[in-house]
Amino acid sequence: MPDPVRVLVTGAAGQIGYSLVPLIARGHLLGPDQPVILHLLDIPAAVQSLEGLEMELLDGAFPLLRGIVATTDILHGAAGVKVAVMLGGFPRKEGMERKDVMAKNVTIYKTQATALEAHADNDVKVVVVANPANTNALILKEHAPKIPSKNITCLTRLDHNRAVAQIAHRAGLPVPNVRNVIIWGNHSSTQYPDVNHGIVKTLDGSKKPIREVIKDDAWLNGDFIKTVQQRGAEVIRLRKFSSALSAANAVCDHVYNWVRGTPEGQWVSMGVSSDGSYGVPVGLMFSFPVKTRKGEWEIVKGLKIDAFSKEKLDATTAELVEEKALADSIIKGSSQ
Ligand code: NAI
Repeated sequence: MPDPVRVLVTGAAGQIGYSLVPLIARGHLLGPDQPVILHLLDIPAAVQSLEGLEMELLDGAFPLLRGIVATTDILHGAAGVKVAVMLGGFPRKEGMERKDVMAKNVTIYKTQATALEAHADNDVKVVVVANPANTNALILKEHAPKIPSKNITCLTRLDHNRAVAQIAHRAGLPVPNVRNVIIWGNHSSTQYPDVNHGIVKTLDGSKKPIREVIKDDAWLNGDFIKTVQQRGAEVIRLRKFSSALSAANAVCDHVYNWVRGTPEGQWVSMGVSSDGSYGVPVGLMFSFPVKTRKGEWEIVKGLKIDAFSKEKLDATTAELVEEKALADSIIKGSSQ
């Protein structure tokens, strides 16, 4: 067996953390042959929950789990980690303005970026989950210039999985039969779930475009998009808490594909730093279709974007540009 890999989970005592850490300990993040040492970080107010979580992890007797570092100190938490899953952040509370939440998260992500840059493995792979995920990742990227920008990503895989599941359900086929949907843009209600390049493998084994199999463009251009965009809010309405089980599962899918690659001919959605593809401003953290191989992702280029899609891409780009401007103004204000 290879040496254990250190994996940091910030906000580990929270809801997603509780679903995620057993999956990591079972090998769903890095593979069934990769031992791990879990670094669990949370704030002092959550220290008891963190202790309880550590106890339960020990009680799980997970064969791949070779150690636990539970801490409230990011410098300690970041030491030597090769993967960092950022769940910790300041939630939006009733009556709070968007810029107030952003200001809290700018402070958190600046500090954690600096700690990761100084203490994590030089090739640390980061996935930011805490909202606003794309912009938190952008702040982290801008404050950790020594970490290669290709190593900093944000999670849109949950949205991707939601889109795949909706199509599979509608087609009456298993989930693996649906491939190459795309989530473009922000992890927010402006995201654009795009099926125009997606394929369905039908029961006779033939591969057909999603639109040809579903045969309902009105649904695909209307309720399907809305359902995926609003799914998180709908889960909150019913559960009174945000998606946790499905978010944890998506974190594992995101990192697993990143590290182990995507199957031949298939892509997944990841929030990554734009290289200007599809007219998205360079450096914006944007969800694109990506193919991965040996720990490197590559944006799928040259897909045809029709007028309907272009309008949706422009809307989500505009929202991210606005979020970036807000974050930049907060950073500028705090450094004066
Ligand atoms: P939660 O509120 O249950 O847990 C968050 C944890 O972060 C808490 O234990 C809190 O004490 C901790 N925390 C706060 N500030 C911290 C800091 N500075 N350092 C370390 N830990 C800190 O929230 P939950 O449900 O686990 O969600 C986590 C985040 O993920 C939220 O921001 C949520 O909106 C977001 N989310 C993102 C999704 C995505 O697809 N990108 C999907 C679902 C949730």
